[in-house]
Amino acid sequence: MTSRIIGTGSCLPETIITNDWLSERMDTSDEWITSRTGIRGRRLVREETTADMAEQASRLALEQAGIAPEDLDLIVVGTITADHVTPSAACELQARLGAKKAMAFDINAACSGFLFSLETADAFLGTGRFQNALVLGAETLSRIMDWTDRSTCVLFGDGAGAAVLAREETGILSFDQGCDGVRGSALVCRGRGNNNPLVATGNEPDYVHMDGQEVYKFAVTTVPVSIHKALEQAGLQAEDIKYFFLHQANLRIIQSVAKRLHISVDKFPVSLDHCGNISAASVPILLDEINRKGCLSRGDKIVLCGFGAGLSWGTAVMEW
Ligand code: ACO
Repeated sequence: MTSRIIGTGSCLPETIITNDWLSERMDTSDEWITSRTGIRGRRLVREETTADMAEQASRLALEQAGIAPEDLDLIVVGTITADHVTPSAACELQARLGAKKAMAFDINAACSGFLFSLETADAFLGTGRFQNALVLGAETLSRIMDWTDRSTCVLFGDGAGAAVLAREETGILSFDQGCDGVRGSALVCRGRGNNNPLVATGNEPDYVHMDGQEVYKFAVTTVPVSIHKALEQAGLQAEDIKYFFLHQANLRIIQSVAKRLHISVDKFPVSLDHCGNISAASVPILLDEINRKGCLSRGDKIVLCGFGAGLSWGTAVMEW
């Protein structure tokens, strides 16, 4: 037995922020952002929370899967921007959905968050004690951006994506994943301040800092290797794959990975042009967009791949 995705859903905040809007407020330009990243716009929250977006994405995924919230066994949310330190985004979602019997917890793996959550849920389903799971990537990254730092804030957006997994005979074929904590300083957010009177430094809240070139180099070298390993384990070639759903960080990373795999870039769907980088939510939002366009048929082979802070990466090969 393995697990299969039987429903997807997504939610983006209402407010669209264009590159021109940013250019009016900081020293940047549509030309710089578009040519370096491929990002033309992103959605940012005003009043919406991570839990609001997670709930909407989940309801759509559950509806498509034909599973009632009260029948859910497990909820795993990949997020670095839960609304609270505790309770987790997953527990908040469990309460909102009325998924009374579901075990619920978050996974903090940044842009690999959805893939790590998927593999975790798959392992739980593999025990035979869980028959289904709701897996999400949900982020309000705008809360942890430094809006005076043009080198990071123009890259990110907010949103949530969900998938319902069911224990079935076909579906996920293989996983590959890894972490390199030694290089973790390339992408850091220390986060909330500390008012412990015994602590002299680090009292101020902190935002995301990224060595963009270091993360770029990591992505273009690690992702093709991880995809190769996962394909080999699944007994497939890159040519057998209909779509590669890569984390949506930068169009140039996607193009470079396609080139290294000798696969047409047409097989790499893109949402970063209108979403920006939404960390753990990027892959499930993109998957839902393509699924709802009717582009996926039963039996199609697809690859999902997340990579980012940690540093961390995760790849899944599956049959739709
Ligand atoms: N507008 C205009 N100029 C800018 C901006 C901006 N928004 N940001 C930086 N610049 C300037 C810099 O100051 C620099 O100027 P200088 O040459 O005078 O010093 C110049 O542009 C070039 O900056 P670089 O950082 O070298 O630009 P680069 O070509 O490397 O592109 C980018 C930066 C887009 C961030 C790229 O490195 C990248 O995509 N990296 C990967 C990011 C990624 O994959 N993240 C995924 C993980 S995210 C997660 O895990 C949450």
